[in-house]
Amino acid sequence: MPLEVRGLDLSFLKDGTETRVLRGVDLTVEGGEIHALVGESGAGKTVTASAVMGLLPFPSVRINGGGIFLDSVDILRLPRRNGGDYGDGGLP
Ligand SMILES: Nc1ncnc2c1ncn2[C@@H]1O[C@H](COP(=O)(O)OP(=O)(O)OP(=O)(O)O)[C@@H](O)[C@H]1O
Ligand SMILES: [Mg+2]
Repeated sequence: MPLEVRGLDLSFLKDGTETRVLRGVDLTVEGGEIHALVGESGAGKTVTASAVMGLLPFPSVRINGGGIFLDSVDILRLPRRNGGDYGDGGLP
């Protein structure tokens, strides 16, 4: 079951200010693969991993575009529990 991040574009919202931190992130991880996210400080490694894990701090985050597909389901479109976590029973 591949994990596919496609065109992920994401902003943080604070005090009426929008800060765009991810622009067009694409990655694919096939089942059984292990990858490392490499980049300079502030590049968005933690935010990308948090998005995949369902740990984005909504409602301080806005998804501007793209998706995160697990078994072809966009986990960013799943209902959020407690305004934050994805899904109502954990990740599919
Ligand atoms: N909760 C947050 N609210 C607002 N901005 C945030 C938040 N978390 C991260 N950011 C911003 O998002 C951008 C990406 O941060 P991130 O923590 O993903 O970088 P990183 O690649 O993991 O860096 P490092 O190598 O230092 O861990 C940075 O500009 C950071 O300031
Ligand atoms: Mg980090």
